[in-house]
Amino acid sequence: MAADMHQNLEILYTRQQIAERVAEMGAQITQDLNSEKLVMVGVLKGAAPFLADLARAVQVDATFDFVATSSYGSGQRSSGAVKLIKDLDEPVEGKNVLVVEDILDTGLTLSYLRKHLLQQRPKTLRIATLLDKPSHRLEKIEADYVGFSIPNLFVIGYGMDYGERYRNLPDICLMTPDHPE
Ligand code: PRP
Repeated sequence: MAADMHQNLEILYTRQQIAERVAEMGAQITQDLNSEKLVMVGVLKGAAPFLADLARAVQVDATFDFVATSSYGSGQRSSGAVKLIKDLDEPVEGKNVLVVEDILDTGLTLSYLRKHLLQQRPKTLRIATLLDKPSHRLEKIEADYVGFSIPNLFVIGYGMDYGERYRNLPDICLMTPDHPE
């Protein structure tokens, strides 16, 4: 599925730019881990492509787990409430945990998840987000690893959706609010 198949979509970051940045993030995470093991916790569904790429850029002994939350409904606006739909499969007590997100926006999701995961007493808990929208924050939270910091734009592609569509766009794209269904 290519971005140029859709009118009203504009590429913000190309697949090449994403790949280069993910490689840099992977190298940084590898360095910071100092050869220790890692549990990568992907936040479904949007983080799936980023986790898949980041995992292959991290040169450590890593396992995957996934959580799922809900905050956005089907449109562009957050409902404000975060609900845990799926919890971890395995406990992470004493482990190095890296939460992997596609986007840090209001911070509601990651604030909730951070508190939730810290209850299990991991050895370390870090956050990697591909995109960060610092101007849109409602909760005080920052990621340890940020791919790109962006203004308050609505983005789709590379895992991010609008009404569940467009997650499989290889590039990160912009869409105008009046985009027709
Ligand atoms: C999106 C995104 C983050 C969250 C960020 O997920 O993947 O998890 O919103 O927003 P916040 O910082 O304002 O909480 P969403 O709930 O849309 O689910 P999805 O990943 O399945 O698209």
